[in-house]
Amino acid sequence: MKILVTGGTGYIGSHACVELLTAGHAVVIVDNLSNSSPRVLERIAQITGRQPAFHELDVRDRAALDRIFDAGKFDAIIHFAGVKAVAESVADPLKYYSNNVYGSLTLFEAAARHDVTRVVFSSSATVYGETARSPIREDAATAPANPYGRTKLIVEQQLGDLCAAGSEWRVAALRYFNPVGAHPSGIIGEAPQGVPNNLMPYVCQVAAGRLSELSVFGHDYPTPDGTAIRDYIHVVDLARGHLKALEYLERTRGMHVINLGTGRGTSVLDMLGTFERVNALRIPHRFTARRPGDTTETYADAARAAQFLGWRTELTLADMCRDAWRWQQANPAGYV
Ligand SMILES: NC(=O)c1ccc[n+]([C@@H]2O[C@H](COP(=O)([O-])OP(=O)(O)OC[C@H]3O[C@@H](n4cnc5c(N)ncnc54)[C@H](O)[C@@H]3O)[C@@H](O)[C@H]2O)c1
Repeated sequence: MKILVTGGTGYIGSHACVELLTAGHAVVIVDNLSNSSPRVLERIAQITGRQPAFHELDVRDRAALDRIFDAGKFDAIIHFAGVKAVAESVADPLKYYSNNVYGSLTLFEAAARHDVTRVVFSSSATVYGETARSPIREDAATAPANPYGRTKLIVEQQLGDLCAAGSEWRVAALRYFNPVGAHPSGIIGEAPQGVPNNLMPYVCQVAAGRLSELSVFGHDYPTPDGTAIRDYIHVVDLARGHLKALEYLERTRGMHVINLGTGRGTSVLDMLGTFERVNALRIPHRFTARRPGDTTETYADAARAAQFLGWRTELTLADMCRDAWRWQQANPAGYV
């Protein structure tokens, strides 16, 4: 298939491109490089032996999108492009509505004009909000607690309405839990700008001596070790889920909302202990107050992904920790 990958130079997109190219698909990436480096393209080629086509563009740019669609028919779109920092979305909601909602709308309009009606969309477990009980099934109530989560839900609703209006649309909205880790080669990985917001990249930077210690937010949660529980998923497993979703859309029409998670909860201390053990390192850390808005435990019910897509995670927490650290060591300052 020939796949348009928006946001394909980003963290998850780059891993998905590796899997797509390895499976023999043709890949065209569009990305405005607002949160990624063009060096990713050479790295993808280093792993796969094939460099994807690339166009630097913003998905809000209708004319630029039309030029891409005019140049050749796509079988499907995987739409990763978007902004994703929860705290920033609270401070600057318009940036989120513009990139995520308006960007998606512009993309889907261009797709519709060019009869491309197969879409895999990067949604997020953030759409479930703070009160959902884990394991969270896809039919749990949605109640996003921040603008970022609301933009993801709005795009899901756009896609649901499109599917309801026209039987030609085939959409998988994949609700990711907590993607971590890196390609096992250490050649591509997560390269956050500034101080990381998420646990694994933070741990890696402490391990590398770039940050002095990890703050563990909350040691008084009602969990076995008192720290918060999340569903960490290896980014390579997550990337493979997108291929499975594309295959599923070959067979099925309409709108499908599917969790991508392991179905298992991991506490902050489990993660830290595993990272220290597999990498033979000590991570200085101290316990601080809970962060407002953080849930006690959030993990997926992964049954629908297994049933619909025939997909399950294969990589372990140890793989996530080992691969994240391999990437960090080989690329201490990211893609420079
Ligand atoms: N990483 C996570 O924890 C996580 C969890 C759930 C969902 N998601 C979603 O998955 C997708 C990919 O996330 P990621 O972690 O790879 O993030 P990322 O920032 O590494 O990748 C997103 C890419 O989109 C590009 N981009 C942003 N706005 C754009 C625009 N207007 N036009 C063109 N390109 C644009 C960025 O330059 C970047 O390369 C995002 O939509 C994100 O919301 C991520």
